[in-house]
Amino acid sequence: ALRPRHFASTAAALPPTYEKLYNKYTEVRRVLGKQRLTLAEKILYSHLDNVEDSLLSNTNNGRDIRGKANLKLNPDRVNMQDASAQMALLQFMTCNLPSPVIPASIHCDHLIVGEHGADEDLTSGIQINKEVFDFLESAGKKYGIDFWPPGAGIIHQTVLENYAVPGFMMLGTDSHSPNAGGLSTITIGVGGADAVEALVGAPWELKAPKILGVRLTGQLNDWVSPKDLILHLAGLLTVRGGTNHIIEYFGPGVDTLSCTGMATVCNMGAEVGATTSLFPVTEASHRYLKSTRREQASRNVALLESFPGTGLAQDAYFKFAADEGAQYDQVIDINLSELEPHVNGPFTPDLSTPLSKFKETVQQEQWPEKLSAGLIGSCTNSSYEDMTRVESMVKAAEQAGLKPAVGFYITPGSESIRSTLERDGTIETFENAGGVVLSNACGPCIGQWKRQDTVEKGVPNAIFTSYNRNFRGRNDGNPDTMNFLASPEIVTAMAFAGSTTFNPMTDTLKTPDGKDFRFPAPKGLEGPQTPFESGKASLALISQAPDSSVSVAISPSSERLALLEPFPPFPNSDLTGLRVLVKITGKCTTDTISAAGPWLKYKGHLPNISANTLQTAVNAETGEVNAAYDLDGSRHTIPDLAKRWKAAGQDWLVVAEHNYGEGSAREHAALQPRYLGARIIVCKSFARIHETNLKKQGVVPLTLENEGDYDLISAGDEVATVGLYEMLVNGGRGDVKLRVTKKDGGEVLVPVKHAVSEDQAGFILAGSALNLLSKRNQ
Ligand code: F3S
Repeated sequence: ALRPRHFASTAAALPPTYEKLYNKYTEVRRVLGKQRLTLAEKILYSHLDNVEDSLLSNTNNGRDIRGKANLKLNPDRVNMQDASAQMALLQFMTCNLPSPVIPASIHCDHLIVGEHGADEDLTSGIQINKEVFDFLESAGKKYGIDFWPPGAGIIHQTVLENYAVPGFMMLGTDSHSPNAGGLSTITIGVGGADAVEALVGAPWELKAPKILGVRLTGQLNDWVSPKDLILHLAGLLTVRGGTNHIIEYFGPGVDTLSCTGMATVCNMGAEVGATTSLFPVTEASHRYLKSTRREQASRNVALLESFPGTGLAQDAYFKFAADEGAQYDQVIDINLSELEPHVNGPFTPDLSTPLSKFKETVQQEQWPEKLSAGLIGSCTNSSYEDMTRVESMVKAAEQAGLKPAVGFYITPGSESIRSTLERDGTIETFENAGGVVLSNACGPCIGQWKRQDTVEKGVPNAIFTSYNRNFRGRNDGNPDTMNFLASPEIVTAMAFAGSTTFNPMTDTLKTPDGKDFRFPAPKGLEGPQTPFESGKASLALISQAPDSSVSVAISPSSERLALLEPFPPFPNSDLTGLRVLVKITGKCTTDTISAAGPWLKYKGHLPNISANTLQTAVNAETGEVNAAYDLDGSRHTIPDLAKRWKAAGQDWLVVAEHNYGEGSAREHAALQPRYLGARIIVCKSFARIHETNLKKQGVVPLTLENEGDYDLISAGDEVATVGLYEMLVNGGRGDVKLRVTKKDGGEVLVPVKHAVSEDQAGFILAGSALNLLSKRNQ
């Protein structure tokens, strides 16, 4: 492989961030030689902690990286939303660091309810969640983390406007973080514990994703928007089709899309389970950087792309696009010219129907023909382009004397976009038409919608939204509300029609004077003619250097926040005297272990949220839900017995069946059992992410070598480990068994397997990953 001469000194001509990227990229090229790379690979591999180690281990000498290599990555920054930031920051605080080693931000968006309109809702949201916002703001000040107050905007929109930079890699504590891929920024959604690892400077691990290419040709027609591209793709791929893949868009059609349109497409890559999604840099990316007052970033991109390269022919320059001839694991071709508007739902984002077939489908499926509300905006679709296209429709309808026939709600993605739309008259157009502008927050998108209309639970009703998710109950908590996802333009047309079977491309509405009105094709502007406004000063970013004199605001009597104590380290011996708390049968998902819904309020209070631990698990011995028996035979709920045992100093384990911990990456599902005294989980198999999460919190996940041994262990049995301590001190090498003492005094020896790596053995011995990382940082 070639090593460029005088590289380090010449690269210093680049801004520091790109100098780092470029240096790593050169190393990637040195290791991989002339291999053609996709854009996602270029950016991702250029963030490796140790390029050679990651790219050459398990990979047939670098030729078979995807799906095989364990990438240890150094992200450039971390973005957190208010719900998940609480536990992330509480964990970060246990590390005793003066500030994170990489920049980070907090965005207060999830906790604000949509009810009457922006001002009223924001005031009451701030009152109700005051202690959480105070905590987040004070932590931001103490540790020098950017703090975006409630009303400043929704995380993904704010990140796109301020932090996304082509070539960066970010982690976000929200599944729609990949939104920033619209500006060629690799952004991956993670749980709080992963975010904290990055904040303390530990490399973040990811199995090298496969790359799914989507080749775009043609150009969108009048009524079609980037949203329709991802709605269509979701139908093709289904909700699991993108799992363990990065979706990378390429081809001539890419150049016809706006930057915010590309962000919409990347945002909803989460709906097909993709690790993240990415677009190359286009002219639109530069226009967006300039309109968001980041001319320098635009110049930096151009400088990097013009910078003389490593001397290898195909990468003489770093281009924000895939190498010519780069191979994708799969390619899907989409001709934008042939795309039509789509409607996805209800209840799942991959049930995709072209608009021209939607009326027929509604009638066949007997979905409601009457619409009950239309909602546009959110982190997914509140761009200047989206809103001005809708504005053109609203104005035309207004001139014809028409108003929306049902509630019409608009959620701006940020104060910047809202104030710009206000300046340019768009907000006034919406309000004159009777639209309700909600606060710049998640609101109805995440169940924070107090509906003021008369929709009854138990009676199916239909809403159209331009959001990204439509699981049952997600918007108004009503399981009978069918949410159909569509572009803001189609949602608006349906809201004026008050019907789910309307097709604005072919159908007409009756005006008050009896004439037929057909919507003209929507027309908007990609961005404002003068740069974006920054909006109200009271909603502006609070950004400052770390200040160790600030104390983090947590009231000792708070029900929603509680400081975390670091978990104690593993004893210097095997574990003895554990008891089986409960033996579980059937599915045990992360929802079973830590339920969501009303419990979300306690996300920052580990003792309080622990009261839901395993509360929907089924007791294998009695068939009861949420029942466990103490040694004296008394019956308790599972969390109550765990709490009693914790108080008595009795450590415990749980025995379960297959795929324990399937579902989400919810860290509370590992934190809560650990807090209550779990040392081991023994089951027939684990869901991979949860198994890793357990180890990070110091709980040892063990699988039964013989599945039939499940029958040998009962609730209340006493358990000691044999060989576990030795395995841990040997960096994960060695056999482990469980010595199970039955109530009648009989003993059985149960062989178990583990998947504990050297790093993870260190986490468990230290008590948790954070214990170890904070020790290393001191
Ligand atoms: Fe918020 Fe909904 Fe987006 S919850 S972050 S607006 S997906």
